[in-house]
Amino acid sequence: MSDNFSISPAGEKFALPKPEDYKAEYENLKKRVEDERKLGREIVVVMGVGFVGAVMAAIVADTVDKKTGKPSKFVIGMQRPSARSFWKIPLLNRGISPVKAEDPEVDPMIARCVIEKKTLIATYTYDVLKLADVVVVDVQCDYIKEDLGDVRTGQTDMAALESSLHVIAKHIPAEALVLIETTVAPGTTEQVAYPIMKKEFRKRGIKSDPLLAHSYERVMPGKNYVASIRDFWRVCSGINEKARERVVKFLTEVLNTEKFPLTVMDRPIESETAKIVENSYRATILAFLDEWSLYAERNGVDLIKVIKAIKVRPTHSNIIFPGPGVGGYCLPKDGGLGVWAYKHILGFEDDIFKITPMAIDINDTRGLHVGQLVRDALRNMGKPIAAADVLVLGAAYREDVGDTRYSGSEIVIRKLAEMGAEINVHDPYVEHWWEFEQQDTYPGIGQSKSRFFRNQEKLKEIRIEQDLDKGAQGCRCRVFAVPHKAYLDLDPDKVVSTIGGPAAIIDCFGILSDDKIKRYFQLGCEVKGLGRGHIQRIKDEIRKG
Ligand SMILES: NC(=O)c1ccc[n+]([C@@H]2O[C@H](COP(=O)([O-])OP(=O)(O)OC[C@H]3O[C@@H](n4cnc5c(N)ncnc54)[C@H](O)[C@@H]3O)[C@@H](O)[C@H]2O)c1
Repeated sequence: MSDNFSISPAGEKFALPKPEDYKAEYENLKKRVEDERKLGREIVVVMGVGFVGAVMAAIVADTVDKKTGKPSKFVIGMQRPSARSFWKIPLLNRGISPVKAEDPEVDPMIARCVIEKKTLIATYTYDVLKLADVVVVDVQCDYIKEDLGDVRTGQTDMAALESSLHVIAKHIPAEALVLIETTVAPGTTEQVAYPIMKKEFRKRGIKSDPLLAHSYERVMPGKNYVASIRDFWRVCSGINEKARERVVKFLTEVLNTEKFPLTVMDRPIESETAKIVENSYRATILAFLDEWSLYAERNGVDLIKVIKAIKVRPTHSNIIFPGPGVGGYCLPKDGGLGVWAYKHILGFEDDIFKITPMAIDINDTRGLHVGQLVRDALRNMGKPIAAADVLVLGAAYREDVGDTRYSGSEIVIRKLAEMGAEINVHDPYVEHWWEFEQQDTYPGIGQSKSRFFRNQEKLKEIRIEQDLDKGAQGCRCRVFAVPHKAYLDLDPDKVVSTIGGPAAIIDCFGILSDDKIKRYFQLGCEVKGLGRGHIQRIKDEIRKG
């Protein structure tokens, strides 16, 4: 990426705005906003049009007045013009979603709001905040880990959030509602955001308190992307009575709160904590199965069938197999934000957390075991892992999405590369895997997980193959790392003929049925799987027969 351009994932190059462009951009926005106000529309600025902000902006822009049926909000997505992210602005302004998703609602909704209803635009200038009635903050708040498998040595990186809050307070009208949707370390709204904003307000001579509110996102990018924001329960809070009333009014207007009522908490620390506990709970029930997964492999048990048997019981229906690690932007970091906040925001010196950090550490290192499965499967075929061509199916952190952040596949690949394998990757939803292609600078300088492994230099060469057959040729090892739809019904006979002979097949997600496993063995393949100890039994039966 150059300093003057921002390149979209599809490879289109956009020149970054020059200092002289800002004035004209603001003047245009001002005129547009005057017209929108005449139509009685509320002006909503969404800060950060990433995975959450882009879709939230479209949902707000799609809102209609319940009585008249006419659009009631005009939304301006605001995105800083960094080389990495600026391309999202021109794409959005053409009505094209900056996020790729399986949900068929996302693309038409963004196109409808931008092109037909004309209720959604995007800009790079912070001055737009001067025009806001409501600001929705969807910028990231990261948690940087210093060691692999030790979340405690990490720390919260609030730089983007803090700088956004300064900028917001410098520009917004005093009466604007500021709704923080970013997942934050508990205490942030009252103990970090409020002081920053109050100070900036006083500098501007504003005597009133900022109207700050918090309501966290439960969005699930994927098949139900839009519904997971609009048609889903929300928790919210405000720093005072007025902020609470305003946030309840706003969310009631833009979300389907009739069917999915709001839960209003007394204080922001309670809604912030709800988010962290919600995700720590999820991370914990996933981590807990890691030891049972190893147990299953060593004792002829298929953990996938065990989970299916347990799930029948309604009280245990959310038990879920962890795959080769637990990725996504949220589960690997949110518990860390809580543990960190206890000390660094809330001021305690003792250490009360055991389960939350342990769960994250287990999830972060679960993918390492796949290296052993690949090594052993290849060895059983008389081949060393060193210099073996391995095809990893799936780069995203979960099925049917294009988000690679903290995906289990990254750890799988780094471990395999450390052991000498040559890596090939297929994913129908991912065009560039920046975690590898730009590992010197992504997700930040000195932050790549490459630093926890040896022999990582060559991984910069990774390019995602989108044609499965092309990627498969000659790769005598195939790792099913993500249960994308495209991988579920692959026929073993076809797989083996495309590869050009028997291969080592590794199932990380319980994708393969027993019939398929059997067929792979009949075709001369070697099969292994996370948590799938019964594979050995199937192999013995085939070999005996
Ligand atoms: N992705 C999810 O599935 C998900 C689910 C629930 C909650 N969340 C939370 O939502 C928040 C946002 O997550 P995301 O996945 O959308 O992140 P993201 O990185 O995709 O988006 C953040 C955006 O904010 C922009 N940004 C950063 N600083 C800015 C600034 N000063 N001004 C304007 N724009 C700025 C970035 O360029 C980026 O486009 C996080 O707190 C995350 O934990 C995410």
